[in-house]
Amino acid sequence: MLARALHVVAGVLWIGGVGFVTLALLPVLGRDRAQESWFTRFAAFERRFAWIARIMVLVAGGSGFYLIVALDAWDRFGSASYWWMHAMVIVWAIFTLFLFVLEPLVFERVQARIAKASPSRAHRLITRLHWVLLALSLIAVFGAVAGSHGGFL
Ligand code: HEM
Repeated sequence: MLARALHVVAGVLWIGGVGFVTLALLPVLGRDRAQESWFTRFAAFERRFAWIARIMVLVAGGSGFYLIVALDAWDRFGSASYWWMHAMVIVWAIFTLFLFVLEPLVFERVQARIAKASPSRAHRLITRLHWVLLALSLIAVFGAVAGSHGGFL
């Protein structure tokens, strides 16, 4: 029960943050997308939230792993009707890669370089990336809640 509650709280904070960035922050900052200053402000927000997201990703992964062991649910990964188990792990793996490896080592520099050369192109690329991440995350959440409560898709 505790692991499940922690798992959901971590997911709500982290995916909620992705939703806020995609649906509110990027469109508002995008009003100035012709100027590089939009990116400077965006990077400050992202840096601030990245730490919260990193901690939540660890909590979600740890509690998720615990749930698999406690429910002895390993065999689900061999069944297509448990696609939502795969979806959760894939979403988690993508964010882990982004937050712990790509963002600090590659993305920060690459994004800043693109934003300097063409701020509006950087806005378009970053917005698209966030839409893809948000869509995948919401599909995983939808499937996980439906699947954990007896739903079949
Ligand atoms: C390594 C990554 C993850 C693992 C191992 C994992 C594992 C699990 C397990 C075993 C369950 C319980 C299923 C059941 O009761 O039958 C679960 C539930 C759930 N997970 Fe994950 N998960 C992971 C990542 C995620 C992510 C990234 C999200 C959000 C996008 C997520 C959202 C949920 C939700 C919403 C539930 C349903 C809770 C409920 O309604 O009871 N999980 N997860």
